[in-house]
Amino acid sequence: MANPVSKTAWYCTGVRMQDARSSNPLVGDTWAERFLDDEGRRVFERFTDLEDANGANIVRHWLIDQWLKARLATRSDHRIILVGAGFDSRALRLEGGRWIEVDEPAVIERKEAVAPAGESPNPLTRIAIDFARESLADKLAPHANDGPVTVVMEGVAYYLDASAIAVTARTLGNLFPRHELICDLQSDAFVQRWGKRIIARIATLGARWRFHPSDPVAAVETLGYERRECLSIALRAAELKRVRVPAFVIRYLLPSLRDGYRLCTFARRASTPPRA
Ligand SMILES: C[S@@+](CC[C@H](N)C(=O)[O-])C[C@H]1O[C@@H](n2cnc3c(N)ncnc32)[C@H](O)[C@@H]1O
Repeated sequence: MANPVSKTAWYCTGVRMQDARSSNPLVGDTWAERFLDDEGRRVFERFTDLEDANGANIVRHWLIDQWLKARLATRSDHRIILVGAGFDSRALRLEGGRWIEVDEPAVIERKEAVAPAGESPNPLTRIAIDFARESLADKLAPHANDGPVTVVMEGVAYYLDASAIAVTARTLGNLFPRHELICDLQSDAFVQRWGKRIIARIATLGARWRFHPSDPVAAVETLGYERRECLSIALRAAELKRVRVPAFVIRYLLPSLRDGYRLCTFARRASTPPRA
């Protein structure tokens, strides 16, 4: 993996493998094990002791599954674009949807070797991009669409700097004017108080935490979005008993944990008509 952030995709896949192998899986992603190669297993070994971070990670994935299933229940051919898809197997696992997965060439090659897009039960297009050198706008332009689209950026935003997030938002807004964005966001207070352990471990892969403003939801709203729904990942993880802190402690006593790591949906704000 040339891009160090891509190595973090092994970590998330390892978490899903561990979940699928457990006696009470939440997501039950049996593709994860197949996607992990030797490098992936070695990377994941560095994270196996981080129980709470891993618990929150699988709950995040499960929550997004629920949101996507709800959209697919009302529109079985709904378009879904996964930007920084990693080894996400939703196109293979969920019922319905027309899917686009975008990620670095090494990730896409591995996915194609294990589960070719042409054999996916749902229509699936995989797009390889060198994020540092190629333009997301050019890659996605052939798929531009003014209908409803859901864009998922899971476990991606905090690796990007603010200007990269702004460019991505502008690109998505131009090509998919009616898209909704699903993404997880971390506040600076969360990162300082709760994130240090996982961030230090991720740093051993060469990837850095970049985007954690004091109010990341407001920061995304300045990019032409309107917040629709935000859930506390830590609180949901506690309610599902996937982290060791009791839910009431997070709910009432630890606001920086409760509100600092959230999964949100944003709608595109209607653009102001050009002045005459
Ligand atoms: C932590 S992984 C998450 C992967 C997947 N979404 C998941 O949850 O399993 C971060 C992903 O972001 C991708 N990535 C790296 N640079 C990116 C960029 N500039 N824009 C979007 N995604 C990027 C990486 O290749 C990697 O697959």
